[in-house]
Amino acid sequence: MPEDFTVTPWEVTGDIDYDELQKKFGTTPIDDVLLDRFAGYGKLHPMLRRGIFYTHRDMVPLLNEYDKGNKFVLYTGRGPSGNTHLGHMMPWIFNKWIQDTFGVDMVFQMTNDEKFLFKDLTLDDTTSMAYENALDFIALGFDPKKTKIILNTKNVDKLYPIALSVAKKVTFSTAKAVFGFDNSTNIGSIFYTAMQSAPAFLPSVDAGRQVPVLIPCGIDQDPHFRVTRDVAPGLGFPKPALICCKMMPGLSGEDKMSSSDENATIYTTDTPKAVKKKVGRAFTGGCVSVEEQREKGGNPEVCSVFKYNYYMFEHDDEKINELAQKCRNGEILCGECKMCLTQKINVFLEDHQDKREKAKDVIADMTYDNFEW
Ligand code: TYM
Repeated sequence: MPEDFTVTPWEVTGDIDYDELQKKFGTTPIDDVLLDRFAGYGKLHPMLRRGIFYTHRDMVPLLNEYDKGNKFVLYTGRGPSGNTHLGHMMPWIFNKWIQDTFGVDMVFQMTNDEKFLFKDLTLDDTTSMAYENALDFIALGFDPKKTKIILNTKNVDKLYPIALSVAKKVTFSTAKAVFGFDNSTNIGSIFYTAMQSAPAFLPSVDAGRQVPVLIPCGIDQDPHFRVTRDVAPGLGFPKPALICCKMMPGLSGEDKMSSSDENATIYTTDTPKAVKKKVGRAFTGGCVSVEEQREKGGNPEVCSVFKYNYYMFEHDDEKINELAQKCRNGEILCGECKMCLTQKINVFLEDHQDKREKAKDVIADMTYDNFEW
């Protein structure tokens, strides 16, 4: 039977069956044993408790090494093609929790080359978006002493030799099989995965020894890192470990918040008025009349407003269960729920926008090899 969903680094559509995807990609579920182990390092993040970060590659050997005193380096990134939305922020928030919990260094890659190659954007466009997106990343509070931002075209002297060694090991036939390229694909795109692999090996190159790396990211990025992991041993580097999250849904009920549907996407730069309007129009799956909703109740499983609370805006498990129950019983109506969520998002954004402004003062100190924007 054909699948009714697609998940690649460049396209996420349809009704994603996350168990099926895990099987297809060959990642390992995060089970209770691993959760208990995480809990030994610090209070579990809600994204782990709730199965939002749900699958991994080689977390156990990574933690074994950590316990022996061999610290890993965190690596994640952003393809700067537009404003940052809440979906992008989700894995970064989790990265911050890992940095704080394990006290580790991190590299953040901004792939202005990728978005130039894959989208109808100039390199100037993607480079200035990289600056804007980096402010959002910094605003989350990453330790400036432990965090370096890489911009592909600026740090090319360090990345390119590593990317070349990766590219030499990856055939066109592998790139076609993994990414679905064909004869009309530009050759920059075919090479690109080598650039996304490079930061996974950079800590080892810099340190002159094998440094373990952990990549927390959305599951859509896994195909790149399958390639990275395949070539690692042949190049004398450790395979990076991965921990991946489900995709934060859009407000229209779609499975992924995406910039292609602006009205269903909350950007970090949105005004309170814009947030109110977008949440006001959100898909809830509620009944047509108040009477019917009071009688039959709502369905939190399909409601995008509930999902926003679940993914990001209500960390208290008791409160989230109570909200689900009240919705099912018809005790709380969609209008009220939308108002509460609007308020939570606006409180979050007001603080974030403030920190985003302040990030302009520290961004220069957080660039890899001190490049200038
Ligand atoms: P990009 O810019 O598409 O996305 C940045 C990060 O956000 C995740 N993401 C989401 N997570 C949850 N819900 C969503 N709706 C959602 N939309 C996006 C992505 O999985 C990603 O983790 N090629 C990459 C940039 C990159 C990178 C990396 C990402 C370079 N190196 C290492 C992760 C790890 C990209 O275009 O990401």
